[in-house]
Amino acid sequence: MRVFVTGGSGQIGSTVIDLLLARGDAVVAIDNFATGRRDNLAPHERLTLVEGTIADAATVERLFSDFRPEVVVHTAASYKDPEDWATDALVNAAGTAIVAKACKAHRVGRLIYFQTALCYGTHPRQSPIRLDHPIDPVASSYAISKTAGEHYVQLSGVDWVTFRLANVIGPRNVSGPLPIFYGRLAKGQACFVTPARRDFCFAGDLAQVVLRAADGRGSGTYHFSTGRDVAIRDLYDAVVRAMKLNHRPEPELRPLGPDDAPTILLDPSRTVADFGAIDFTPLDEIARRAVERWSTAGVVGGYTHLKDARGEIKA
Ligand SMILES: NC(=O)c1ccc[n+]([C@@H]2O[C@H](COP(=O)([O-])OP(=O)(O)OC[C@H]3O[C@@H](n4cnc5c(N)ncnc54)[C@H](O)[C@@H]3O)[C@@H](O)[C@H]2O)c1
Repeated sequence: MRVFVTGGSGQIGSTVIDLLLARGDAVVAIDNFATGRRDNLAPHERLTLVEGTIADAATVERLFSDFRPEVVVHTAASYKDPEDWATDALVNAAGTAIVAKACKAHRVGRLIYFQTALCYGTHPRQSPIRLDHPIDPVASSYAISKTAGEHYVQLSGVDWVTFRLANVIGPRNVSGPLPIFYGRLAKGQACFVTPARRDFCFAGDLAQVVLRAADGRGSGTYHFSTGRDVAIRDLYDAVVRAMKLNHRPEPELRPLGPDDAPTILLDPSRTVADFGAIDFTPLDEIARRAVERWSTAGVVGGYTHLKDARGEIKA
């Protein structure tokens, strides 16, 4: 199969590419390295990695014409500066419109998209959130622009699958608390946690479901989640255990930020029904794999689309 992957050097894109290459597929990937790590993808004879932006329609058109993809896995997204609304809109809304139009023009068999659970707002009416929950992304530029992107995917007329994601993490994770905790603890710096609860899922588990979608299973909108949340403190403790620290530094407990949801729990029942059972990797194993990589390759990122949590890895 010929698969075009946007954001191919990112956490989810590169993890999907590893699985595609391992089973014999050909991949063209595009990435501008805004948040993607160059060392996420090893050179491979069936992989072409193009440095460029999905916001450039001419580049996207050329790649579609040359490669004629059968499936598009669209993971590229902007989120690292919550005040940079223009780049979020350019990449997540206009860039997705460009990709969706190219899929239509080139009769791509399937377009797979990744949506933020913040499309439901920061105070959802249900827990777990069902797929028919009202869409209310206005709390952040990231959620607004990702929601516009999801609508362009739906408008495209192409056969599409969109996965609305819980917190997807692993050794290639550059956003949110996992790389922040590791980065600070590795430097002997104190951390803080909030009372927030999240559902942390392993990127490798998602990638396996994405391959099933690429092969034609499912159709429409899904949640990717375990359906169980844990406290951010539990993730912190998992990192401390994985780092085998002699002492267990007590993190400061801070209140939730204004755009930080107390919990985000998604109902995964449609996903299990259409894609089959998912053997979710336990939190301790996810933390172990992340710590294993970062202890030799170093950690980068700690990016966040939340206004109050920026720059923690550098502090
Ligand atoms: N990880 C999560 O918990 C999570 C949750 C909800 C939604 N998502 C969505 O999943 C997708 C992948 O997330 P991830 O965790 O792999 O993040 P990531 O930052 O690791 O990957 C995103 C990739 O897109 C690339 N990119 C950014 N702008 C680009 C552009 N203009 N052109 C080409 N490439 C560009 C980045 O350099 C990066 O490699 C994103 O669409 C994101 O919105 C992720």
